[in-house]
Amino acid sequence: MKVLLVGSGGREHALAWKLKESPKLSKLYCAPGNAGMAKIAECAPIGAEDLPALVDFAKAKGIDFVVVGPEAPLTLGLADRMRDAGIPVFGPSAQAAQLEGSKAYMKDLAAEAGIPTAWYGRFTDIAKAKAYAQEKGAPIVVKASGLAAGKGVILCPTLEEALDAIDLMMTKREFGSAGDEIVIEEFLTGEEASFFALCDGKTAISFNAAQDHKAVGDGDTGPNTGGMGAYSPAPVVTPEVEKRIMDDIVLPAVEGMARRGTPFTGVLFAGLMIKDGAPRLIEFNVRFGDPECQVLMSRLDADLLEILYAAAQGKLDQVKPAWKKDAALVVVMAAQGYPGSYKKGTVIEGLDEAGDEEGVTVFHAGTKEQDGQILANGGRVLGVTAVGTSVKEAQARAYRAVGRIRWPEGFCRRDIGWRAIARENQP
Ligand code: AMP
Ligand code: GLY
Repeated sequence: MKVLLVGSGGREHALAWKLKESPKLSKLYCAPGNAGMAKIAECAPIGAEDLPALVDFAKAKGIDFVVVGPEAPLTLGLADRMRDAGIPVFGPSAQAAQLEGSKAYMKDLAAEAGIPTAWYGRFTDIAKAKAYAQEKGAPIVVKASGLAAGKGVILCPTLEEALDAIDLMMTKREFGSAGDEIVIEEFLTGEEASFFALCDGKTAISFNAAQDHKAVGDGDTGPNTGGMGAYSPAPVVTPEVEKRIMDDIVLPAVEGMARRGTPFTGVLFAGLMIKDGAPRLIEFNVRFGDPECQVLMSRLDADLLEILYAAAQGKLDQVKPAWKKDAALVVVMAAQGYPGSYKKGTVIEGLDEAGDEEGVTVFHAGTKEQDGQILANGGRVLGVTAVGTSVKEAQARAYRAVGRIRWPEGFCRRDIGWRAIARENQP
């Protein structure tokens, strides 16, 4: 099978790495890819959001199956265009991708399907938004409804901060049109986890869970990022919790989407808050998490291509993914300054030595190769990933590999996995 994988992040490098294991794969193309992906696949310099060029490329190369990594091309309709061209694709339609593209849409579906989530109101009118916040009181959460690169969420411990957040989005228009509509919702407490389910339009199967670290600094401090590290399994997602997530959140969502005439195909990523064994939905994403994907792929003990293809063909009942007992942990190395402004083009050395450490795979995110050197080319640059018999062992291996990488302009958190390791250390 000839496969085209769309995207260029650490998530896509991990998907490419796992797809390469499949005996069913004859050729792997990536668009646009990165320096790590270029070592295992043929990369085409086509942007992930250049829909017409991607479709032309897929037709010209006789691609049998397209896997879409990031959300942006999905919300733009890449999966629809590929399907219109007769090419099977793993990823939801533009309509179904609204589950991530519009928080207001997601909240309405959750209410309709009876999914446990924060109470909420949606507003396009600033006076009504403020009146709602005043009535509900703090703590409360204010969100831009549209896609805002993960930044459109403001947690407000006081009412004053909530009113400021409403002004920031609706008067100052800090997030542009993403803030045309805002969602104001309950402040949830508990432990967060990222849960993944594969969906074929009619049904869904669990595809395991992970936990990520969103804050840039040690101790989960500082501004939020796309994710500075992750680990799997997620100890908070016990088998009982997993069953509740599938029964109360994932399956009602998949059934609700089918009922609406917008069936969901692809991976449904539920961001959850779990308290006393009860999961509540924070948000849905319509793609794998990054860096959660890096640890999931490290633990998957099955043919990824076969599974994703089954999902795309409405045949998920025919596959049952198996998982290694090992734990996996990824430490993200980012360019200094991230998530603010940062330099590109700095030289990274020591990647081969890092990859030689036991149990370690170094996934690339924002990298490019120039004159035989690997250069940083983005904010999040590497995902140093390790497996081990425990999260603690995986962590030790990952940081040993990080120590081999020579990149003075980069940094990473030093405490990825702390919560899981604290649990492992409990008697
Ligand atoms: P999101 O962009 O929706 O993923 O939100 C970013 C982060 O904000 C989440 O990972 C949570 O840590 C936090 N968050 C979002 N919504 C809520 C909520 N209703 N209650 C508490 N924390 C939240
Ligand atoms: N790591 C969180 C995300 O991919 O949205």
